[in-house]
Amino acid sequence: MARQKIVAGNWKMNKNMEEGLSLASEVIHMAVDELPSSQGVSLVLNPPFLHLSAVRKLIPAGKGIYLGAQNCHHKPSGAFTGEVSAEMLKSLPVDFTIIGHSERREYFGETNALVAEKLNLLLEKGIRPIFCCGEALPIREADTHLAYVAQQSTESLFHLTAEQLKQVVIAYEPIWAIGTGKTATSAQAQEMHAHLRAHLAGKYGVEVASEISILYGGSCNPANAQELFACADVDGGLIGGASLKSRDFIEIAKSFPNK
Ligand code: 13P
Repeated sequence: MARQKIVAGNWKMNKNMEEGLSLASEVIHMAVDELPSSQGVSLVLNPPFLHLSAVRKLIPAGKGIYLGAQNCHHKPSGAFTGEVSAEMLKSLPVDFTIIGHSERREYFGETNALVAEKLNLLLEKGIRPIFCCGEALPIREADTHLAYVAQQSTESLFHLTAEQLKQVVIAYEPIWAIGTGKTATSAQAQEMHAHLRAHLAGKYGVEVASEISILYGGSCNPANAQELFACADVDGGLIGGASLKSRDFIEIAKSFPNK
């Protein structure tokens, strides 16, 4: 079975409402005009929470364009001022939600165990998690990156059943490549993606592991996407900066080879 090809745009904390709506509407129009569904690429727009409801209304059904949030709280509901629950996201509805992004791990102290709690709530609500993992530069320089990222996935994912795991999208985002303009080489990306897939296969079997989409994130742009997406185990991208420009985002989405 061919794996789902996905290009997801993580807008992070950018764009006010008016700017966000115009970005979403440009991306949607270009996608409908230029990305035939025969190419089988799914796009996910992940604007800030505030914009979700309005962007939802712009997305046409049946065009392979989906809505995602950037985070959710790890408890189902309650006295958590300023937070947003999986249930609230489901009520819009959103289709996907990014969890465990390195910026949340770094600035908000999120751990693998906490990310697992979020994942469980999302799956309970039928929202597909985009689970982020990736190493900081000192870990790569110490040559322990493969074990480190495998450990992140073990601690956040390995309690799931195979059926649950199939709902998860994994995004490998080396921290040293995020927002730095320094992309992982295609060899570095392929090495990690293959390693992650083998790690999943060790627990869930080759067949299940071969169905999981693993995205690359970190300074992915129209100039490097083609080489990255040509790698056997790279199934698309989680795009930060370049997702804020409609033309760049769509060009990235057009960068898949016929494989
Ligand atoms: P950049 O594409 O800006 O490096 O960001 C990657 C990222 O963090 C996506 O989640």
